[in-house]
Amino acid sequence: MIRKCLFPVAGYGTRFLPATKAMAKEILPILDKPLVQYGVEEALQAGLDGMAFVTGRSKRAIEDHFDINYELEDQIRGTPKEAMLNGIRELIQKCTFSYTRQIQMKGLGHAILTGRTLIGHEPFAVVLSDDLCFGEPGGPGVLQQMVALYERQQCSIVAIEEVPRDQTSSYGVIAGTAIDERLLRVTDMVEKPKPEDAPSNLAIIGRYILTPDIFDIIEETPPGRNGEIQITDALLRQAKEGRVLAYRFKGRRFDCGSVEGYVEATNHCFDTFYQRP
Ligand code: UTP
Repeated sequence: MIRKCLFPVAGYGTRFLPATKAMAKEILPILDKPLVQYGVEEALQAGLDGMAFVTGRSKRAIEDHFDINYELEDQIRGTPKEAMLNGIRELIQKCTFSYTRQIQMKGLGHAILTGRTLIGHEPFAVVLSDDLCFGEPGGPGVLQQMVALYERQQCSIVAIEEVPRDQTSSYGVIAGTAIDERLLRVTDMVEKPKPEDAPSNLAIIGRYILTPDIFDIIEETPPGRNGEIQITDALLRQAKEGRVLAYRFKGRRFDCGSVEGYVEATNHCFDTFYQRP
């Protein structure tokens, strides 16, 4: 059973400068909600209620967002604006939030290892909230699909999607043998390969389910691409033992760490969810 979701939010967000100079990119809003809130909602919808954050400098706003702002609440109590806080209030009520800090930004693998103290020895999900994901209309969210799969398969799972060949160097890329239309058993994975070196065009996106032995493996994983400790390199060890599945999720994903993806996501959400006040 998976109860906890880890949110590594310590990255510098350099693709979004200067917006991210003093502010976490996970606080950037899509319409009226910060990216990280969409991630927490997706995790709660998947049945997880322990939200664990690996934060860094300039990330205080994330902790404040998942807390009560008494002065503000006092100001708007009894006005129509109060209802605008319903969604976030529900999250605060239903979930627990815990935080630890990554002191040096040594990569996603290192950020996940830093979260070990919040996770302990149990399987857990990882959400990179700058990848904004939606399931198909009326269907389960992406993490919910993965949790259901974990319950049957009991091994690490990465969410994948096909990307144009010339974009492989922005992703971890897998090779695998097909189990069914949506599922592959991973046989190889490479972090940010050049198109000519990529084992396929199946890219890992920001949703993972990891078994807790991954922490010991990350500890033994040397820095890889860009001198960072890569989760892809650690997962390759599990994959070599046949213990990693890649799942082509049902739904859509937007790369909100890039300006283009962010604008696309904003337009999509405006067309799909926005209700004029
Ligand atoms: P990204 O590759 O998107 O890096 O990290 P970034 O620093 O956030 O953004 P850019 O590329 O400079 O614009 C993937 C995820 O891993 C987290 C980030 O916060 C993001 O959610 N991360 C990355 C950490 O928490 N710590 C790190 O040391 C590196």
